[in-house]
Amino acid sequence: MKLLLNVLKRIHKPAVYSSQSRCRSSSARSGLLLLRDEALIVGSNPELVQRLGPQVEVRTGFITEEEEGAFMKELELGLKKKRYEFDHWDDAIHGYRETERVMWGERCEEVLSRVRSVAFPEGSPLLGPVHILDLDKTGYIKPHIDSVKFCGSTIAGLSLLSDSIMRLVKEDDAEEWLDLLLPRFSLYILRSSVMDQARYNFTHQILKDEESVFNGQRVPRLRRISVICRNLPG
Ligand code: OGA
Ligand code: MN
Repeated sequence: MKLLLNVLKRIHKPAVYSSQSRCRSSSARSGLLLLRDEALIVGSNPELVQRLGPQVEVRTGFITEEEEGAFMKELELGLKKKRYEFDHWDDAIHGYRETERVMWGERCEEVLSRVRSVAFPEGSPLLGPVHILDLDKTGYIKPHIDSVKFCGSTIAGLSLLSDSIMRLVKEDDAEEWLDLLLPRFSLYILRSSVMDQARYNFTHQILKDEESVFNGQRVPRLRRISVICRNLPG
C-alpha cells in the first residue's frame, strides 16, 4: 500500500512550473526576510499556472507577529474550550476545531479591513462572521469544494502559527494541480470568475505534515490557525 502511494505521488508530481507571487511592503515592516524571488505557486504545467495565476494570490508577511498575537489573544480562550475533532472519518477536515466571530477588537478589525480591501471588490456583500479554523499539528483538510450555496466567488485567508501547503486539484483530472505555499503571516486569496472557476472546478486541501513538501522542499506543518473571510454568493 505504501509503495503504491509513493508511486502515485510520483505520478502526481511531474515537471513543475512556477509563478511569482506578489509581496507587500508590510512584510518589510514586520522585519521578515522575504522569499521575494521564490515562487509561492507551482503547478503541473505552465498553461495551468498562467491560467489560474490571476485567480490565486499569496501575499507573504501580510500580518506582523504582533498582529498574529492580537488574533491569538482574542481567539485562544474560546478555542481552548473546544476539543479537536478527529473521529468523523467522513468530514472534510481532520483534527480541527473551529469557531466564527463577528465582533473584533481594534487591532484585529484593522487587519480584517485590510484583508477585505485587498481581497474583495468594493461593495461586494460579505459573509458577516469570520471563520476561524484551528488545525492540530496532525490535522489536515481533505480535498473538497466549498458549498456554492453559502460561499461566493472569493475566499481570503490569513495563516497563523505555521506554514502550510494548499493544493488545488482539478476535479475531473488529478494530473492538473497547483500547490500554494502559505507561509505563516501570509494572506491567500482564491478568486473565481464566472468563466474560469478555480474554486469550483478544483478541489482545495491543506496537506498533512507527512505530505507537506513544496516544490521538493519540506515544509513542517505545526498547529495552524486560519482566519477566513468570504463573500456571499452573487
Ligand atoms: C475551508 C477551507 C482553508 C484554510 O474551511 O473550507 O478550505 O485555509 N479552509 O483553512
Ligand atoms: Mn474550503
